[in-house]
This record gives sequence, structure tokens and C-alpha cells, in this order.
Amino acid sequence: MKTVVSGVRPTGNLHLGNYFGALHNFVKMQDDYKCYFFIADLHSLTTHPNPADLKSNVHNILANYLAAGIVPEKSVIYAQSDLPETTELYLYLNMLASLGELSRCTSFKDKARENPANINAGLLTYPTLMAADILIHKADFVPVGKDQLQHLEMTRTFANRFNAMYNVKYFNEPQAFNFGEKPLKVPGLDGKSKMGKSEGEMNAIYLSDTDEAIRKKIMRAVTDSGPTALGQEKPEVIENIFSLVRIISGEETYNFYNGKYNNMEIRYGDMKKQLAEDTVRFVTPFREKIISLLADKKYLDDVLAEGAAQAHDSAKKTVAEVRGIIGF
Ligand code: ADP
Ligand code: TRP
Repeated sequence: MKTVVSGVRPTGNLHLGNYFGALHNFVKMQDDYKCYFFIADLHSLTTHPNPADLKSNVHNILANYLAAGIVPEKSVIYAQSDLPETTELYLYLNMLASLGELSRCTSFKDKARENPANINAGLLTYPTLMAADILIHKADFVPVGKDQLQHLEMTRTFANRFNAMYNVKYFNEPQAFNFGEKPLKVPGLDGKSKMGKSEGEMNAIYLSDTDEAIRKKIMRAVTDSGPTALGQEKPEVIENIFSLVRIISGEETYNFYNGKYNNMEIRYGDMKKQLAEDTVRFVTPFREKIISLLADKKYLDDVLAEGAAQAHDSAKKTVAEVRGIIGF
């Protein structure tokens, strides 16, 4: 069985973009692959979160994962910080990574530009830690978005460099996993083309949002003053809200309002009301599950402990073999 590894940084809750773009595919992968899903709490140290926030963020993201359908009986779910083997492999990989290539990495340059007062070595070596996350389980596939492809390329570089340095064929090349040809992109509610957690309050619908928050955000979604000609092409903001209708309310509802638009009979208020109610119906079971999971911290800790134990079995083997190859 092929192995899949993916990680998520414990910052904020998951939104419908995360769900439709990635998470629901992870849920489907659980039956066909050996899946390791972890919470990248070590990576989040690059921005120095306070300890109480770190712990609650890990619980939070775990509750979101579980509510979305990641099943601990099928997949290994763990916190990165519970797997010290990763940090050992990270050290070995750091010996193979050059300052030049790390400092040329796009995510490093962006973060360094955004926050020049905190350019720490952990930020610089973010890609080697990510490579360690992936190589520790000798992953075949890594389901990630476009923004992570450079990190994955670096992972392959480090894997090959390790093999060359020690004259072994130990690590294979983990590949990006693109669920089919065209990944779904969920637009934001503020007219921006992407729903994202850094896009401001009114852009994203979270799996944990209350009914009122959902209604408020959707009713305020950006539209225009309406079509001015029959069968008119939609401007981007309108295209975006129609995409949301298609994703959440379904094809039939989309066709109904699309017909209204083409006949210049559309009332955006009606369409938004429908979208809001459909979204409330969709999100409610997730929110309820998240709330009940967060009320049982013991269960969440048990899931993490069990995940860490299973991840440890795979990681221990890799580290022992790597140590042997290096000569320890
Ligand atoms: P954000 O953009 O909110 O910061 P992340 O970068 O943490 O989200 O993305 C986590 C996962 O969710 C990635 O696999 C990413 O490709 C996917 N994702 C995020 N936003 C969207 C979106 N609007 N549409 C589709 N997929 C998305
Ligand atoms: N860097 C990823 C992100 O920002 C999170 C991550 C860390 C990851 N380690 C990983 C993803 C290993 C996949 C595999 O989204």
C-alpha cells in the first residue's frame, strides 16, 4: 500500500476552501492508502506562539479534522511535536541543505519580507523540517496545494542528496498528489477569488461558524447591481458567488439562478438567502461535532497519543536505518 503524508499548521479553524479543496479528498484517501496526517506544531514555533495558544490550537485543528471525517481507526493522526524522530532526521537533512537554496525559497523570502524582525533559523530551515516530516515515513505521495510544491521539490532534492552522499538508494522521491486533473478552488465571499484564512473576517465560512455568522457573511457577500443585458457574461465577483452556489447548493440551484441571471430576473438577495440556508445546513453537523469533540479533551489527547504511538513505529525504523547509513 502506498504511503501518504500531509500536515497542517495549527493556525485557526478550517474553512470551506480547506474542506472542498483538500480535506474531503483526504477523507476519501483513507481507504486506499496508508495515511499519516499530522499537525505541524513545531513549524508554528517559527512565529513564537504562547504555550496556551499552541495547545488549544492543536486541539482545535484536531477537532476540525475529526469532524470532517478523518478517522483515527483508518489513519494515523498525530502532533509533529510528539514524534522526536522527525527532529532527528531534520538535523541530518540540515547538514545537506545549503544556505543559498534555503534562502532562495519563496516562502522564506515572503516571510522574511513580511516580518523582518523575526528571521530565525527555524524559518530558514522550514523546508528541511517539512522534508523530514515526509521522509520519516518514506511517503510516496504528499497531497498539498500549489504553494507547497517548491517545498516538495526541495524534499526530493534532499532525499537524492542523502542517497548520493552515502551511496545508497534509500529514499525515494515523494510526489505531489493532485486529486484528479483540476483541483477545486473555492472563492471567497468578499469577491476575492480564493477563500482563505488570511483574507479577513468576511471572506471565509468556517466549519465551526455559527448559523448567525454564516447568514451575516453570506448576506453581505459582494455582488453588483445586476446584469444589464440578456445572457451577459458574469463579472468575477458574480462568477465567484455562483461558484459557491454550485459547490454548496448544488447544480440544480445553480441552474435555476443562472437562468434568472441570463433572463435579467436575478434577485441576488433571494439567491444569497438560499445559499445561506444551504450553507447553514451543510456546516451545522460539522460545528456540532467540533463542539462536542472540544468538550472532551481527554479523547483528543487519546487520539494524539495513539497516533504518536503508530507514527513512532514507522519513524523509529527510518531513523535506525538512517543512523546506520550515516555511520552511527
Ligand atoms: P489558507 O489559504 O486559508 O491559509 P492553507 O494554505 O492552510 O489555507 O491550505 C490548506 C489546504 O487547503 C491546502 O491543501 C490548500 O490547497 C487548500 N485550500 C485552501 N484554500 C482553498 C480554497 N479557497 N479552495 C480550494 N482549496 C483550498
Ligand atoms: N508547510 C505546510 C503548509 O504550510 C504544512 C506542512 C508541514 C506539510 N509539513 C508538511 C504539508 C509535510 C505536507 C507534508 O501548509
